[in-house]
Amino acid sequence: MEQALEQLHEEALGALEHVSDKDQLEAFRIKYLGRNGLIGSLMRQLVSIAADDRPRLGKRANEVKNDLETRFSDKQQSVSTSVRPPASAGPDLSLPGRKPVPGKLHPVTQIMEEICSIFESMGFSIAEGPDIELDHYNFAALNIPEHHPARDMHDTFYINDAVLLRTHTSPMQARIMEKQQPPLRVIAPGKVYRCDSDITHTPMFHQVEGFLVDKNVSFADLKGVLTVFIRKVFEKELALRFRPSFFPFTEPSAEVDISCVICGGKGCRVCKQTGWMEILGSGMIDPEVFKMVDYDPEVYSGFAFGLGIERIAMLKYGIDDIRLYYENDLRFLSQF
Ligand code: PHE
Repeated sequence: MEQALEQLHEEALGALEHVSDKDQLEAFRIKYLGRNGLIGSLMRQLVSIAADDRPRLGKRANEVKNDLETRFSDKQQSVSTSVRPPASAGPDLSLPGRKPVPGKLHPVTQIMEEICSIFESMGFSIAEGPDIELDHYNFAALNIPEHHPARDMHDTFYINDAVLLRTHTSPMQARIMEKQQPPLRVIAPGKVYRCDSDITHTPMFHQVEGFLVDKNVSFADLKGVLTVFIRKVFEKELALRFRPSFFPFTEPSAEVDISCVICGGKGCRVCKQTGWMEILGSGMIDPEVFKMVDYDPEVYSGFAFGLGIERIAMLKYGIDDIRLYYENDLRFLSQF
């Protein structure tokens, strides 16, 4: 009897080892632990053994039964967790997919490329110059000598007495004219810097400089080129207004206004009820600038203009805060 009990115990343990799913586990339970299972029937036989041995064998039989029951429930746990799909079972194919987000050009880059291609179609070539500029090109070569009051308007970031972050793209006029002879038809896009920050100013922004030098260039040529450009970039038959202004490197100078792109000239909040929006600075290149690059002002004439790229994009897309361009918010940037 005792031997049979120990044998059954060992056999049952061995059998449990091989159980690997729910069905096998249930078969094990029925065979060993069930109401008509082997343990039960062995225990029922206890009544027929000698009374002296009965308590000891009965106790042992209970131990065996308890042991098997604990091991059975342990096994139950491990089998049921392994039957459930494990957490790392791979992708859930019923979920909607995640789209890869394609990269895009920044709206300022897009407008800059558009502006460049419009001027290229009119025969202009593209030039680029340094952001870190000499005081000489940013000011002196543009007829803005030291202590000239026009320097105050520029809110310049100086690196030292002679070096600064360019405050406009106009230094490219001097850089190119001193190296090349007319005829010239150039645009120079790039970053410029001014110590200024509010809803219409950022410390860094972009300009495109344009200039044309040849014999017999007149103000009418400037008007013609800018009118074509403005209508192409805004894709509208906008009116242009040339308002007398002053720049040390152009004479005469004009600021150019366009009829308000929002209200069409009737007057609204954006154009401050004037019907006009200021869009760029321009003029005929000053003879003093020509003299500094050894061009004969009696032979050559030319015009120049400078426009702010962020400003054009703001007007074109109805953006009212320039800082949005530089806050890296994809909800804003991905609209373009
Ligand atoms: N550089 C001037 C500015 O930044 C614009 C300008 C360019 C004016 C060329 C005249 C000619 O305000």
